[in-house]
Amino acid sequence: MLIKRGNDIPSSEITPEHIYVHRRAFLRAAAAAGIAVALREAFPESLRAQDRWPQGKRGPYDTDEKPNTYKEITTYNNFYEFGTDKGDPAKNSSLFKTKPWTVRIEGELKRPATYALEDLLKGKTIEDRIYRFRCVEGWSMVIPWRGFQLSELIKQVEPTSRAKYIAFETVYRPEEMMGQRRPYLTWPYVEGLRMDEAMHPLTLLVTGLYGKDLPNQNGAPLRLIVPWKYGFKGIKSIVKIRFVEKEPPTTWNLATPDEYGFYSNVNPDVDHPRWSQKTERRIGEFLKRKTLMFNGYAEQVAHLYAGMDLRKYF
Ligand code: MTE
Repeated sequence: MLIKRGNDIPSSEITPEHIYVHRRAFLRAAAAAGIAVALREAFPESLRAQDRWPQGKRGPYDTDEKPNTYKEITTYNNFYEFGTDKGDPAKNSSLFKTKPWTVRIEGELKRPATYALEDLLKGKTIEDRIYRFRCVEGWSMVIPWRGFQLSELIKQVEPTSRAKYIAFETVYRPEEMMGQRRPYLTWPYVEGLRMDEAMHPLTLLVTGLYGKDLPNQNGAPLRLIVPWKYGFKGIKSIVKIRFVEKEPPTTWNLATPDEYGFYSNVNPDVDHPRWSQKTERRIGEFLKRKTLMFNGYAEQVAHLYAGMDLRKYF
């Protein structure tokens, strides 16, 4: 290889310094962009979904707070069927089968039936909604859920006038859900709502988050979300919905009735017997923030409880 010495180079071939510097900056930027593209390619689809997620409030039910990351939402979970530690559901739920999936709808209604999930979703208005989520344990998140209003389903199946409550049941599959082989809760997990709570437009049956199908650890393929109540009301992996006359049993109330009531509305003024509910730690933040009455949804839902003693009906 022939190397030209400096004084042999004709001046026409010497790049002026300002262009040379620009070119270096350009090359550096191009390399950085190349790395960004490569990283993006290597990233799972879920992270790209989070990247693409438009910031800020869009619909009338959205909070304008910044959503937690996809990683936070899908690795810090409560799903006792897969273990009791927050990291267990993500680790232990990969073999859980959610296809095919059916939901039995029965009790006080005109048309009891078993629906394939695809049929249950037919004709429903699927929406993305950014909700605050407050766990009874004192932490919270902001989660972009995807789902449809439970009210749409209720109207479709036409409950009778005797239907005053709605009861939900999680799938029972101890072969796939190792937690169900241990008696720390009574299985299957069950939950319930009063009919007016179930009909409220904020109440969702959820099929996804960050615009993608629910991961198993978050309650695939169908779960409940009631944003003004503590997170445990949001029963996961639902296989049965029953319209009933009387207040149905709920898992955490069966486990410790003095700690968990049927209503479980987020209420900073009613402490859990073992800890205060006045503040919460948003996952990803250091300082605690004040817990809001009905988790910040008081304007929309306080009327449902007018005249009720919320200390008694906790
Ligand atoms: N549903 C079932 N079937 N089993 C559970 O253990 N945990 C509840 C609720 N739904 C639970 C469940 C509790 S205590 C909370 S806080 C939320 O799910 C957690 O939902 P996430 O993991 O999507 O944040």
